[in-house]
Amino acid sequence: MSDLQDIARRVAACTDCGLAKGRTRAVPGEGPEQAQVMFIGEGPGYNEDQQGRPFVGAAGQLLEQLLATAGLSRSQVFITNMVKCRPPNNRDPLPGEIAACSKYLDRQIELIKPKVIVTLGRYSLGKFLPGQTIGKVHGKPRTVGQQVVCPMYHPAAALHQASLKKDIEQDFKTLASQLREAAQAETPKEPEPKQMSMF
Ligand code: URA
Ligand code: SF4
Repeated sequence: MSDLQDIARRVAACTDCGLAKGRTRAVPGEGPEQAQVMFIGEGPGYNEDQQGRPFVGAAGQLLEQLLATAGLSRSQVFITNMVKCRPPNNRDPLPGEIAACSKYLDRQIELIKPKVIVTLGRYSLGKFLPGQTIGKVHGKPRTVGQQVVCPMYHPAAALHQASLKKDIEQDFKTLASQLREAAQAETPKEPEPKQMSMF
């Protein structure tokens, strides 16, 4: 069993916070261990809880469209949430629930070592850039420890507010150019031509 599958198995059996009681299925997250980009939302909603998969409802459809604008497909990236079980009636996750669940997210980050972490909404923003407000920092990447963190609005918020949708679309385009630049910086340079010498 891979380490990521092991985390998923532990999440499915977890009762470390009150959200365990109301869940249909836990939603550990999904994507390849080699993913270079990781997306972190808030918590599962109704559809996610039913299917055990992250971002499969309306917000997920928008996320997939946005990924396409950044030249990314869902199968290339890792997608997860701050809390792995659905809060009742989609209420905000409580600080104690986020704290209890953070060990799983931290381990996922440790295993995947993504180059870029995209935070979706204010809860995942708070994990990496505490005290910052999304309206000010969205679309502006920062280096935090080993990762580049790119804060974005939550796709569900963008579904309800046209101005946020424009912002998030623009932020995904910026992400695309950042990823291209990072890839170019990594391409090995042509070796220097050998100096010919008569001596
Ligand atoms: N919203 C989230 O934050 N996460 C999901 O998985 C789905 C909707
Ligand atoms: Fe465990 Fe996280 Fe689910 Fe709480 S939300 S029961 S900590 S997996």
